[in-house]
Amino acid sequence: MAEPEGEQGCLLRDEPTELERLDKTQAVVKAAMNDRLILAPLDLSKPDLCILDSATANGAWLRDISTHLKSPYALVGADIMTSFFPSKAPPHTALIKQDFQVPWPTALYETFDLVHQRAALARSRSIPPKECVSNLTALVKPGGWIQLMEMDLTETDNDGPAAKDFLRLVVSMLEKGGSGLTFNIPGTMVAWLKDAELDEVREEMVSVPYGKSCSSEEIAILSTEASVQNVNFVCEAATRLGVDRPEGFVGSLPERYRQEIETRGGEMRLIVAMGRTSM
Ligand SMILES: C[S@@+](CC[C@H](N)C(=O)[O-])C[C@H]1O[C@@H](n2cnc3c(N)ncnc32)[C@H](O)[C@@H]1O
Repeated sequence: MAEPEGEQGCLLRDEPTELERLDKTQAVVKAAMNDRLILAPLDLSKPDLCILDSATANGAWLRDISTHLKSPYALVGADIMTSFFPSKAPPHTALIKQDFQVPWPTALYETFDLVHQRAALARSRSIPPKECVSNLTALVKPGGWIQLMEMDLTETDNDGPAAKDFLRLVVSMLEKGGSGLTFNIPGTMVAWLKDAELDEVREEMVSVPYGKSCSSEEIAILSTEASVQNVNFVCEAATRLGVDRPEGFVGSLPERYRQEIETRGGEMRLIVAMGRTSM
């Protein structure tokens, strides 16, 4: 999920490979969250819920949460890359082209019971990520929820040497890009939601086990494939950007990383920040 390069990151990837990786990651995150992808305390048994997923890619998150919703409901998936959208939108779903850095159509203001965005804030380049979040907040109905999910890039004692090297590489790339660690550390997104005067603001951490740390063989394989693909991509981008610290370590990282999660296991930590707009 680490996307340190900004918007170019996805644009430079081969689309089928990227969608395949996103689908695998979605399955792995879904398993880690016991299929409870919405942590905001929204009453999913209510009909007529209206939910937006910003930076939706192929809408996999919407597809998976829809199984918990009561008809009728309305889902909107928005992304800048319309080529990621499925050729036919799933039932009750509209897919729209929208750059989350530019103002959203005013017709969408205060229309959603839940606004969700995951693994995309690194793409805010033309305006600060905090402003993107504030624009998303404007789309929430009074009394509705916003839920943001981003990868935690801080190291912990649970990380093996290759995982630590990977995190450090991503941080070096963010520093080179001028942003450094911002929303990728616990506490930042919740602070933004508090500044936006939301209520019931809180943060939860989700640990997503990788490789040997997974209890299911199927998820162990999927998480290994998806995370190694991601490490490969980040290493390629680091080489292109001339970030290789210490020199030469990028070349060996994907293989070291694969070995580590296959033999020792690993995890991705997700920061989930949420808040409710006042009635
Ligand atoms: C790493 S993918 C995450 C996709 C999905 N949210 C998930 O968690 O699986 C990042 C997504 O953000 C989209 N994106 C990048 N820049 C964007 C922008 N400025 N506005 C809207 N979407 C953007 C990309 O096209 C891509 O689908």
